[in-house]
Amino acid sequence: MLPQEKLEELYDSLTLEEKVGQLLQLNHIYFGVDGLLTGEALKWQFREEDVVHAGSVLNIFGRERLETLQREHLKNNKTPMIFMADVTSGYDIAYPFSLAQACSFDTKLVKALAGAAADAATADGINVTFSPMVDISRDARWGRCQESYGEDVFLSCQMTKAVVEGYQGERSDALSSLSACVKHFAAYGGAEGGRDYNNVELSRRALLETYLPPYKAAVEAGCDMVMTSFNTIGGVPATIDKQLVNDVLRGQWGFDGCVISDYAGILQCTCHRAVDNEKELAQLSVEAGVDIDMMDYIYTKYIPKLLAEGTLKEETFKNRVMNVLRLKNKKGLLEDPYRYLKGKAVDSEATYALAVKMVEESCVLLKNDEMLLPVRKEKRIALIGPYAVKEQAGTMWNMLSKKGQLFRKTPSEAFGELFEQPVMCEAGCAMLEYDNFLAEADRDTDPCYREPEKYQERAIEAARQAETVIMMLGEHGMQSGESASRAEITIPELQMKLLREIYEVNQNIVTVVFCGRPLDLREVSKRSKSVLIAWMPGDAGSEGIANLIAGRAVPTGKLSMSMPYCVGQCPVYYAMYPTGHGHAAPSKRFSSRYVDAPNAPLYPFGFGLSYTTFAYSDISADAEKLTQGGCIHFSATVTNTGDRDAEEVVQLYISDLSATGVSRPFRELKGFQRVLIRQSEAVEVVFEIKEEDLRFYNAQCQYESEAGEYIAYIGGDSRTENGVKFQL
Ligand code: BGC
Repeated sequence: MLPQEKLEELYDSLTLEEKVGQLLQLNHIYFGVDGLLTGEALKWQFREEDVVHAGSVLNIFGRERLETLQREHLKNNKTPMIFMADVTSGYDIAYPFSLAQACSFDTKLVKALAGAAADAATADGINVTFSPMVDISRDARWGRCQESYGEDVFLSCQMTKAVVEGYQGERSDALSSLSACVKHFAAYGGAEGGRDYNNVELSRRALLETYLPPYKAAVEAGCDMVMTSFNTIGGVPATIDKQLVNDVLRGQWGFDGCVISDYAGILQCTCHRAVDNEKELAQLSVEAGVDIDMMDYIYTKYIPKLLAEGTLKEETFKNRVMNVLRLKNKKGLLEDPYRYLKGKAVDSEATYALAVKMVEESCVLLKNDEMLLPVRKEKRIALIGPYAVKEQAGTMWNMLSKKGQLFRKTPSEAFGELFEQPVMCEAGCAMLEYDNFLAEADRDTDPCYREPEKYQERAIEAARQAETVIMMLGEHGMQSGESASRAEITIPELQMKLLREIYEVNQNIVTVVFCGRPLDLREVSKRSKSVLIAWMPGDAGSEGIANLIAGRAVPTGKLSMSMPYCVGQCPVYYAMYPTGHGHAAPSKRFSSRYVDAPNAPLYPFGFGLSYTTFAYSDISADAEKLTQGGCIHFSATVTNTGDRDAEEVVQLYISDLSATGVSRPFRELKGFQRVLIRQSEAVEVVFEIKEEDLRFYNAQCQYESEAGEYIAYIGGDSRTENGVKFQL
């Protein structure tokens, strides 16, 4: 790394174009494979020189291509480019997405997977990933909740820390260290109506207490970058919100890294109608503290003018440029621009094994009547549904790198290896109705569109012959993800029709649900004896799912986001506030209720079954009162009452029974532990809580704890009633 004075010298030696170039990030459309300019630039009001000096690129993949790009760049620049990409859930191997990973409650595995992704991405020349996305998600309509760690603040913070540490490792300049860019700052997950990019309307308390902590956890874990969000918060675009970026992020939290806008996010402030003109926008964004302008011309076009006029202070501009130079320096790029471009071996097999483990830990068993699962290996099974014949179930980001996008084993191969009789495999129907616009790409290739009756008949026949039917149903890959919000959160109707037909001939149904968000699963649950949520499991999907179904692995996953009863409940989450009219049964007049649906989700946060059962007893505290500066221990005996060794995710929730002048959520997760408990054995699980764990934003919006009465609950999900009272 260069010392500070060398950095200063470097800054002074750069031309204005080179300095402004540090603040511009472009994607592949501007560069041919030979690293040279394409004509695209001019359409976007860039001058050729702007593109020549662009200091970073995003989502260009392939080490050789990046090396060419770097060589071309260095012909005209004194500083190298830095390469960034969306490596969000694996690189050479696609993992389950973040929401699924959070269901594992396994921070060690999450960290190991991030480390493995970093290893593979850096071997390909990538320096920074636009990950983790830590936007708290409480609305299942939002298509990007899959990229988050779900509805809970504590769980999201723990996952965030694990991922940042996993990507970056001990030192940012290590060859396998991938700098993390936490996003989307701030509160992008709070979009009104669950519609992507929409305005976020939040109280100050909700922002401080619920939405900001995961970003702060990333900063505390040392993440190198932060990305601002597309959304407005109460009408103010986050990208030009000086209070948010400059005062909170940089000021209060002491973040000294690099801030980037989201894709054309600065320019979009004009669409928000939040500025008078583009020049003013450039000024606002630079002053708010955004260093890099991703994919638009606002900085390159207007910063030189603002500097010439003296409207933009040289010092403010220099701060922006220095943040980028410092990042390049941190990565060791200023000394050797090619240090990540020399290639290195990557152990994809070891990563695949971790990915299988993550599939096993992230699937959530919601129902298992008559212990239909696990299915014994001598049983005759039929896999039915569009996902029974699909070759992939990943996210748009996995597809981007053109790697890690296919199941290593097809469902028929994975199940075939574990079952003694031949496994029947039938799609039964297409993924989506023919006229759904998202089906366009599949219309010519999916044979179910040409001969629907034939494929349905084949599926029904397979179900007749099978002892157990494994229905593999779910959302189309394009029904979730960025810009894929849904107003109906159900499995497509043609798949539900198939389920009904199959139900008529064989009711021994296990439904494996592939989805990018929590869904309304009322009917699925009614027509299936067992329901297993598989999310979009990535490359190891078939293998991990087959292991669970066959009982080679025991489900341990717990929901990181509540499964709503119906879409009308959204947003629904466990840490809601009590109301003055109670949360009583729908039949009670004047209570806070729906007259046509329960208040509770179908399956709550933290819920997930195992192939064994666990009993919780002897919940106790080692003191009646928690003192300032002291700590208190809560313990419970957890007994494995079934006939298998298994891990349980033991959860601690705390409920503040009364505060001064401000209501508190029903309860909040404050701890969790994955514990292995052998069959018929009992273990004592102990949690330590300190005074600072009970702090919240009080009526004056100060972050403090309050004396009073609390209850600590320990159990296997957020509905547990096993509690003990204590005082602070
Ligand atoms: C997304 C970001 C992503 C960026 C770059 C945007 O549309 O909101 O999450 O990192 O594109 O691909």
